[in-house]
Amino acid sequence: PIVKEIFGLANLEEKIRKAFGLRKVVVIPGDWETSPLTKRELGLAGAKALLGAMRGGDVVAVTGGTTMAEVAEQLNPPANAAFKQNWFVPARGGLGESLEIQANTIASGMAKRVGAGYRLLHVPDLLGKEAYQSLVHDPNIQDIVSTIRQARIVVHGIGDATEMARRRKLDRAMIEDLQKDGAVAESFGYYFDKEGVVVHKMLTLGLRLEDIRKTDTVIGIAGGKSKAKAIHAVLQFGHEDILVTDEAAAMDIVSEL
Ligand code: BG6
Repeated sequence: PIVKEIFGLANLEEKIRKAFGLRKVVVIPGDWETSPLTKRELGLAGAKALLGAMRGGDVVAVTGGTTMAEVAEQLNPPANAAFKQNWFVPARGGLGESLEIQANTIASGMAKRVGAGYRLLHVPDLLGKEAYQSLVHDPNIQDIVSTIRQARIVVHGIGDATEMARRRKLDRAMIEDLQKDGAVAESFGYYFDKEGVVVHKMLTLGLRLEDIRKTDTVIGIAGGKSKAKAIHAVLQFGHEDILVTDEAAAMDIVSEL
């Protein structure tokens, strides 16, 4: 806390918390994009925020991404028998990203660290209409999807829209459409413009926006100056409860207030 005051981080936290009506904001020093130390610290702060929100018997839905992979890596829970009754699940179908950063991998990795259970959703993050129609009626998939929709906690990364569209190998025409629609942020398969309005969603299975709206605790974890616009857009969307970010992104967000 002393370090936070010296660097004015506590002040950034409070400004962002107030501006977006959040329950809690954590700002760690540095820039995630350029500093490996900040990457680790963001993971650690994210892990602490998650542990602080967890109770026994929770369903925790997680997204993929390098940030969330770092959170999983830094998750060192105290021995807590109650956590063993928890379930970790991926927020959305996520095959498509490289294995290490898929939501399934992160959900199972977190569950093992906590001693909790996990259930996986083995569907691609980008489905054709026909594939979607047949999967959506599959009883096994329906079962896991209904567990996902009961999540009390959602923990997610936030990405720049164009960068995430490229990473997900959307074709050029789709990327241009997204840009025309003003998409600046991507999170849990939804693309948002700078006002936080959803301009595009990926056809996949799992959490829907209406589930996120009624989730008790939504934790967003993302840092880096280059993600400031994206983080700001997701805050505008208005359903975050806890934000864990870094100084570089926080300064940029505050300068726009
Ligand atoms: C994806 C998540 O896997 O990772 C997104 O589904 C998020 O919600 C993205 O936007 C962020 O990735 P990274 O690697 O920048 O943490």
